Amino acid sequence: MKIEVLGSSAGGGLPQFNCNCNNCKGYREGKKTIKRRTQSSITLSEDGINWVLFNASPDILEQIHNSPFLQPQSLRESKIKAIVFIDAQIDHTTGLLSLREGTPFDVYCTKEVNEELNTSYPIFKMLKNWNGGGVKYNQIIPNKEKFNIPIMPNHEFYALSLISNAPPYSLYRDKPRNGDNIGIVIINKKTKKRLFYIPGLGVLEKHIIEEMSKADILLIEGTLWTNDEMIKGKFSSKLGTDMGHVPLNGENGLIKVLDTLSKPRKILIHINNTNPILDESTKEFKELSSHGIEVSYDGMSLEI
Ligand code: MLT
Ligand code: MN
Ligand code: ZN
Repeated sequence: MKIEVLGSSAGGGLPQFNCNCNNCKGYREGKKTIKRRTQSSITLSEDGINWVLFNASPDILEQIHNSPFLQPQSLRESKIKAIVFIDAQIDHTTGLLSLREGTPFDVYCTKEVNEELNTSYPIFKMLKNWNGGGVKYNQIIPNKEKFNIPIMPNHEFYALSLISNAPPYSLYRDKPRNGDNIGIVIINKKTKKRLFYIPGLGVLEKHIIEEMSKADILLIEGTLWTNDEMIKGKFSSKLGTDMGHVPLNGENGLIKVLDTLSKPRKILIHINNTNPILDESTKEFKELSSHGIEVSYDGMSLEI
């Protein structure tokens, strides 16, 4: 299975249009240790021809433009054949509107995400007006059933519900339901190798850590370095954990847990532009590297 990181950043990307934090400013000034990053998305393929998109970011058109393998070969053709949504967040779903000319798409998500995308943020409903179809909804039932995606017959998928948060626009903000946030395990049936994709994780539950320990590759939550990063920097009044994102650093941080896992390759994704690890000259980036943890980047290719 080929894994391509289309967007490595959290909401806003880097640089974020209205942000002048050290990273956004440094990038605009041409600092070589800071990369441009688009918003959170990956894509997977078994045959290198047909691709499953995981989350459709507002930057999807730029991401497709930068990906030679996603270019059409026949007169009208989308190489993206199916889309999996791990939540209903704006930075993970809005790109679907930009793909409207390619509808209908097979979409896979939980019933909670399907509800959000038909009610509070009704993009599934809106798309019914294009090509007479909109989306073809396939329900993901977390913690229960494995599911298949026909264009990846040699792989199986299952979802775990995560404790994080519902989107800021949601009626369920600060009272998320089971199914508002999931992580997905993808297993290559031949090699038995596993990818665990968890871009939004609020609480390090024991069974999630156990699942992490079985993965060959973890593409995991890297939003914030410290829990109070947004407050200290005067960007917001929220802690990372209020937003559903466990921080990397500190006693209760993700690095401490990743240190206990020997099997997986540990790669961060959904990294906020305020996070000091996005500047490779910082002590935080060096500290992260000393734990054997990688930072994904737009255009990163992996394989299992
Ligand atoms: C998140 O990851 O918490 C959201 O993308 C926040 C947002 O929509 O700005
Ligand atoms: Mn986000
Ligand atoms: Zn910034």
